[in-house]
Amino acid sequence: MTNGPMRNGLRGAATNHARRVRIAGTGKAVPDTVLTNADFERIVDTSNEWIVARTGIHERRVATDDEYTSVFAVRAAREALEMAGVEPGDVDLVLISTVTPDMPFPSTACLVQEELGAKDATSFDLNAGCTGFIYGLSVGHQYVASGAASTALVIGAESLTKYTDYEDRSTCVLFGDGAGAVVLRGEDPPAPNSANGLPGVLSVAIHSDGSLAHLLEMPGGGSRNPPNRPETLEERLPFIRMLGNETFKVAVRTLAEVSGEVLADAGQAPEDVKWLIPHQANRRIIDAVGRRIEVPADRVYVNVDRYGNTSAASIPIALDELNRDGRIDSGDLILMAAFGAGLTWGAAAVRF
Ligand code: UT7
Repeated sequence: MTNGPMRNGLRGAATNHARRVRIAGTGKAVPDTVLTNADFERIVDTSNEWIVARTGIHERRVATDDEYTSVFAVRAAREALEMAGVEPGDVDLVLISTVTPDMPFPSTACLVQEELGAKDATSFDLNAGCTGFIYGLSVGHQYVASGAASTALVIGAESLTKYTDYEDRSTCVLFGDGAGAVVLRGEDPPAPNSANGLPGVLSVAIHSDGSLAHLLEMPGGGSRNPPNRPETLEERLPFIRMLGNETFKVAVRTLAEVSGEVLADAGQAPEDVKWLIPHQANRRIIDAVGRRIEVPADRVYVNVDRYGNTSAASIPIALDELNRDGRIDSGDLILMAAFGAGLTWGAAAVRF
């Protein structure tokens, strides 16, 4: 038996510590390049009026040829680590939610681990479409709450515009690029609850329904329609496809349901919510969800106008904007809810 150095990485068996899991830092990164609705008027048959009225989007950030998902993930992660006062070497888990990894393998999380110098971390990617960040929060929460990890870096990062079909006006105007990150840290019990007001993750719920997979997909580039088959590109399969109208209806229903689910589980009411951060896909979905769960409009955060839909990055980007602007005070209850490919949906109630 060798007596090697102690490693911080994930420990094998979960324990029953049920530690409190706090968001100790947030960060974000978006490309500098802006694509406006006026730019799209020159690319496809569309208008600024249609895009604003149907989606609420005015502009989105677009990665250049030299920028890709891990570039934004690393920048967002560094910001979050700095805010949390955590050194990369103290991170036990690097988890990246993305549908647009740098490459199919190795995982983008391993590339980010190396770039950050998080030498003792265990790193992996997770794919849950636009719900990716909530799924990542759920997985990170489980590892930290159990005591298997002390510090987890959960990142949502995307370069969706690399997979945008600029011949399809119904999807190409919707998406943008960027990343957001949070540092999760384990604290001693007790777990946070509605009575003790302690900061931490109160409740996370995640769901999926594969029977609705066809509503939102990128059918090419994987093993079903591989890159080495000429038809894959000829049939424009490695691009985002969406049945927007049907997706819209399921989005509003599931977002409202799962928001109610985590609020009830956390023993909280809509009036306790300081900020509702819905996935930023469409302004009309965001407004409808706020109305359904009865969170007043001035407590529903919206930035889809500036970034478009950044999939797994949208919630952590929004969270960091609020946090860095000083619009979240300690003790505030934040409700986050997302919906996306899979279909997947989920929500989290977190006290800061
Ligand atoms: O993040 C993951 C989850 N994603 C979502 O939640 C997205 C959900 N869906 C949506 O946000 C909306 O369905 C869209 C914004 C994608 C589309 O809005 P819509 O109100 O559902 O429009 P539609 O698809 O029913 O299309 C209405 C019309 C069609 O024309 P006709 O057939 O009525 O003549 C489209 O061809 O609008 C047309 N259209 C456009 N017109 C101008 C579609 N895209 C455009 C465009 N510019 N960019």
